[in-house]
Amino acid sequence: MRLGLIGYPLSHTLSPAMHAAALEALGLAGSYAALETPPEALAERMDEVRRAYRGVNVTVPHKEAVMPYLDRLSPEAEAIGAVNTVVNREGRLEGHNTDAPGFLRGLEEAGIEYRGAKALILGAGGAARAIAWALKQAGAQVRIGNRTLERAAQLQREFGLGEVTDNELVLAGMARSSDLIVNTTTVGLKDPAATPLRAEWLPAGGTVVDIVYNPLETRLLREARAAGLRTLGGLPMLVWQGALAFELWTGQRPPVEVMYQAARGKLE
Ligand code: ATR
Repeated sequence: MRLGLIGYPLSHTLSPAMHAAALEALGLAGSYAALETPPEALAERMDEVRRAYRGVNVTVPHKEAVMPYLDRLSPEAEAIGAVNTVVNREGRLEGHNTDAPGFLRGLEEAGIEYRGAKALILGAGGAARAIAWALKQAGAQVRIGNRTLERAAQLQREFGLGEVTDNELVLAGMARSSDLIVNTTTVGLKDPAATPLRAEWLPAGGTVVDIVYNPLETRLLREARAAGLRTLGGLPMLVWQGALAFELWTGQRPPVEVMYQAARGKLE
């Protein structure tokens, strides 16, 4: 079974290690390759996938660009407008989005309540799109703070979200009244000393999730824990989006613990 990941660049991906370990744990013959694909090579790559792969994951910058090459979209992928998993069913390519359910599985596994939550998402990029849709579908009240207001307003219109802002003072008020805050910006990723939310704006209780997994402990999470809040890093979402993709390709129950171990091993 040939599997892989399409993205550009792909230097830091944990997915090959995670999926190779999962295939081996289940005794499945197969491989998972990092298929680095610059934008101008996407069409050719998708031909190759159609001919020779059982499926692929799709990451930056192709999650939207891949859609015209697919024969069918799952309802989730269609609603979110992004595909992170392609399944090849005898030459017909299906697009799925496991980022959205993967994010929720990570919360569930940690016992974090989200169904009636008053949520604040920091950021309005590709990751925010899947998470906003997932939380809204699950019955949370979803608000967004983003540097560029128009990107947040676009998600608000598409998904019927609550308030969105690019204003620091409004954001402070929204943060203090949230019981679930999710960082999807790349702020703590690019600079470990930076944080997308000032510590004094953290609410008195609740949970802070940072989908950044490298570093595993961001400044945002450190400050949230110091303030007595529950925290969750980015590894659960990474592992669960992979596990759900693996299940789509193989039809087998994914060895989630093995996938966690493989991902952690790569981060150390
Ligand atoms: P991804 O697909 O991983 O979500 P993205 O689409 O590039 O990545 O989105 C990155 C997010 O981080 C965006 O919300 C971006 O804000 P803008 O929409 O204003 O670009 C946010 N972001 C990145 N660098 C930032 C910074 N220095 N300060 C504030 N927000 C930042």
